[in-house]
Amino acid sequence: MSALDEDAAAALAAMSVAGTRKTFNVLAAPTGVRTRLADGRELIVACSNDYLGMANDPAVVAAGVAGLRQYGAGTASVRFICGTFVPHVDLERDLADFVGTSAALSFVSCWDANAAAITVLADSNTIVLSDELNHASIVDAIRLSRAAGKVVYPHSDLAALEKALQGSLAAARRLVVTDGVFSMEGDLARLPELVELCRRYDAVLLVDDSHGVGVMGAEGRGTASALGVHGEIDVITGTLGKALGGAAGGFVAASESVIALMSQLARPGLFSNALPVTVACSARAALSLLRSEPGRVTRLHEVADRLRTGLQTAGLRPLPSASAIVPVIVGETATAIRMSQTLRDVHGVLVTGFGHPVVPEGTARLRLQASSAFADDDVDAVVRAVANVAPR
Ligand SMILES: Cc1ncc(COP(=O)(O)O)c(C=O)c1O
Repeated sequence: MSALDEDAAAALAAMSVAGTRKTFNVLAAPTGVRTRLADGRELIVACSNDYLGMANDPAVVAAGVAGLRQYGAGTASVRFICGTFVPHVDLERDLADFVGTSAALSFVSCWDANAAAITVLADSNTIVLSDELNHASIVDAIRLSRAAGKVVYPHSDLAALEKALQGSLAAARRLVVTDGVFSMEGDLARLPELVELCRRYDAVLLVDDSHGVGVMGAEGRGTASALGVHGEIDVITGTLGKALGGAAGGFVAASESVIALMSQLARPGLFSNALPVTVACSARAALSLLRSEPGRVTRLHEVADRLRTGLQTAGLRPLPSASAIVPVIVGETATAIRMSQTLRDVHGVLVTGFGHPVVPEGTARLRLQASSAFADDDVDAVVRAVANVAPR
């Protein structure tokens, strides 16, 4: 065994002893309300990002297959060399229109989209102001940027943000960055007040709406739409890996000039292959399905409400939110992992426990996520199972 292997084995052994080591559930069937593990066990999935039941929707799959047949398996190039295909352009136009901007640019993930947007916008004349609960991809993108300074403000504390904005007036640019729906809590950013603050202090507002697009607002157009500020956000980033087909891929949506600049400068686009065309085709079909079947969004919220109310009735205290994320705090990482194992092995329900370093120590949680594809009976089965394992 090399010294490196010994170090790795020791680190993993320490995690096993602490009960914090994560294991992967290997699926042998498509994800959906139900799936099957490689060992044959059938499970109800209550922790997937497939909010609208699109990941295995026949129209979404067929569009991907057609794209694969028409354009082949790979782009074999970054966008500016020879990797831009008609479906990229079509998807980007549709995405921009949907979220309320004039242009968009796709990437292979929203992780990359955040890296692209933040590193291009946060130049050496910029102070970045970031909510403390922002997604890890935002945190890392800010670290990667050449921003002149960074302020992390307490979660959704707009008085603190305003003070920080006042303190950054000497900088040529202020960039305020927030999740639209906070991924670990499920709560919404205070977008109307953020829009107003950013206008008042001449700041750029970037919203990562990965858990909001397809989920929030009557037609699923996102958190800005739900809160009455659709079309008023400077830059929106989002994923194709959740409500919009659930494959992979992300996007930045903004004005034409900002997107044009991003296509020139963003390193995740300049030095990494384009989004696979099959994914662009599936995501576009998902968007079109969402437009023609807005009832999926209504159903998603009925399911989320039933999940929350059911857990409350069972004596649990899910974090309150208007999104499709329903977290139940359980304390230590090892507790969350143990509970999710019991949920899987005894109750046939897949709800992964999240602990450190994904969330702060002591706030480990079961993060349940609703899907429009759930029947009421499925929701009730999940509630019964969680009520069985979670502490009151
Ligand atoms: C808020 C937020 N931003 C970005 C991402 C990353 O998205 P992707 O899987 O497309 O890289 C996630 C996914 O976990 C997310 O929750």
